[in-house]
Amino acid sequence: MNTRDTFYITTPIYYVNDVPHIGHAYTTVAADVLARYWRLRGREVFFLTGLDEHGQKVQQAAAKAGIDPQAHCDRLAPQFTNLWQRLNISNDAFIRTTDKQHQVVVQRYLQQLYDKQLIYKADYTGWYCTYDERFWTEKDVVGGLCPDCKRPIERLSEHNYFFKMGQYQERLIDHIRTHEDFIRPASRRNEVLGFLQTQKLGDLSISRPKSRLSWGIELPFDENYVTYVWFDALVNYISALEYLPNEKPAGLGYWPANVHLVGKDILTTHAVYWSTMLMALADTTEEDEKRAYFALPKTIFAHGWWTVDGEKMSKSRGNVVDPNAMVDQFDADAFRYFLLREVPFGQDGDFSRSTMVTTINSALANGIGNLLSRTLTMIERSCAGTIPDRGPAVLPELEQRIEDLARQLPARIEAGYNGLLFRDILLMIEELNSACDEYIDKSAPWKLAKQPEAQPQLHTVLNTSARALRLLAILLYPFMPQAAQQMIHQLGLPLDLSKPISTNVGDWDTPIAGSRIQKGVALFPRILLAEPGEYKLTGGDARIYKAKGGRPVSEPTTPSLATTTPPQIATPAPAAAPTAAQPAQITIDDFMKVQLKAAKVLAAERVPKSEKLLKLQVSLGSEQRQIVAGIGKKYEPDTLVGKTIVIVANLKPAKLMGIESQGMVLAAGDSEVRGLATFIEDVEPGTKVK
Ligand code: MSP
Repeated sequence: MNTRDTFYITTPIYYVNDVPHIGHAYTTVAADVLARYWRLRGREVFFLTGLDEHGQKVQQAAAKAGIDPQAHCDRLAPQFTNLWQRLNISNDAFIRTTDKQHQVVVQRYLQQLYDKQLIYKADYTGWYCTYDERFWTEKDVVGGLCPDCKRPIERLSEHNYFFKMGQYQERLIDHIRTHEDFIRPASRRNEVLGFLQTQKLGDLSISRPKSRLSWGIELPFDENYVTYVWFDALVNYISALEYLPNEKPAGLGYWPANVHLVGKDILTTHAVYWSTMLMALADTTEEDEKRAYFALPKTIFAHGWWTVDGEKMSKSRGNVVDPNAMVDQFDADAFRYFLLREVPFGQDGDFSRSTMVTTINSALANGIGNLLSRTLTMIERSCAGTIPDRGPAVLPELEQRIEDLARQLPARIEAGYNGLLFRDILLMIEELNSACDEYIDKSAPWKLAKQPEAQPQLHTVLNTSARALRLLAILLYPFMPQAAQQMIHQLGLPLDLSKPISTNVGDWDTPIAGSRIQKGVALFPRILLAEPGEYKLTGGDARIYKAKGGRPVSEPTTPSLATTTPPQIATPAPAAAPTAAQPAQITIDDFMKVQLKAAKVLAAERVPKSEKLLKLQVSLGSEQRQIVAGIGKKYEPDTLVGKTIVIVANLKPAKLMGIESQGMVLAAGDSEVRGLATFIEDVEPGTKVK
């Protein structure tokens, strides 16, 4: 029995050979927001994410690359771990299904089920989709195609092991009926219930003959088989608790999970396969305590899918949204905010860069960023940088409104978190922000500052705004950890938001006067949209979509030319000798000698025996070029295909490791590549860049 106030949150474990995209980032950011909120509220949080590393696709990809599947997984795993770091994901553990300890647990459970005759061997003939690694029944198949991925399927007959899933149908229906929050949102719950009430639940094939697939966990009772990838993957949610928490004995006290966050496409595997697996595992023991260990998760929440500019996202369309590029261009906090602000959680949404820019500018630059900056500027100018005491009321109605909102918000927001209503939470936060904006506009503190007799009123306005900002920072923290901590820092408050805070810290009545502010750079500079096809690099700031002087997420970087060819080949002769502090200046004519163009990456592969070099085939519209670029440490070749990048088009061809390079790629970073220059809009390959 779990008596601690724990909160166990999971994301799906992602296929290791997928390229991380907006869908992966979406679930993981949402889970992170929940984890950070409940940590702040003092709960004992365990936040798990990780990788699903077995199965056909990994085996095939490794064979194609000519390496061992484990080496292939090890090579790909950093794609995810690095991205989570860049997105400030605060996971407590990271599971990989190739972890030895995980495999041991899977085998133990398989054996337990087998010993209780909950797994049996039988012949099976069916329609098999190699891509999805699953059998389909006759009625699912239309025109010889997989109903899911629409690829051709094949008739396959083999001996397999089956899990007696069917016998749990009634128990599962009953559980869903009596546990309102088990499957959410309610529309998804009704879908699952509808399906379970109208169709007979069959048994589940949980093995694959090694002759067809060897990259998996061996069945403990038959060495000729490995286990089906989903049986292996789903178990991660409890196997992880046996060896990953920093807790001895094992952190089993976290189970059952409070929330499994999943995308809508994998709801069935979670709601039906996983639930029945847990029921069966509970049936392998008579002891109450052990049965409780296989209790069903409290909530499985299925979120919607993102389309991109109205279209399905896919590699073949070349419109996969790369979260790394989003962090490069907009920074992690703004991207996180947008993801959860744009669409009610649970519904599908459409991603477009222009909507993202609009949201960031209105909610962040003109909203919270502006409120902080104007309040601190006035405190600096009129109160020598110290937050003043409150004086008499200035606009009693508006002041009351702000106070009422501030007093109600924490409870309303907690209700929002219980319902996973991220968008509603952000709208509530924006409501307080707007009330403060209106208050400042109407009370016009800059006018009060000019009247010596109005000093007490001025102090009321500034004190009220500072209190509201303190609360806003705390409320925003789960969504934008860096910016929120920065707000607290600029307000001069000694508060570490990554630690639980006692509830009264952000309370309206908690004094704030006397705090010495530390005004810094603007939190969210406005994003300037360049003209289509045209493009302005603002000096010294690699995030070229941002106004100059933006808050650097990482160290400020300057655009560099990322190939192994020395940069001076492309850089026109300096007009004056550069110094460390000030690079040499060049004239516009010098700059115009360099021809920059938008280029679409058609194909990318590693240069053999080089860690750093990638060979790219790029389209400039009317012509195709081959470019060898030194960006291989930063990017997997696949992630670049379909991207529109910037190249130096009039560079004299050169040979790198014997391969001709007809140009050079523009990237940020010095010795280490930090990001490739790309565009906000869809820019035609071949368009001039200046
Ligand atoms: N390995 C399994 C999960 C096992 S969990 C025990 C898997 N992996 S995955 O890499 O394919 O995961 C993809 C996740 O991304 C799923 O939750 C899926 O719903 C989500 N998305 C894939 N495309 C998406 C969008 N276009 N939009 C939002 N989420 C999307 O499935």
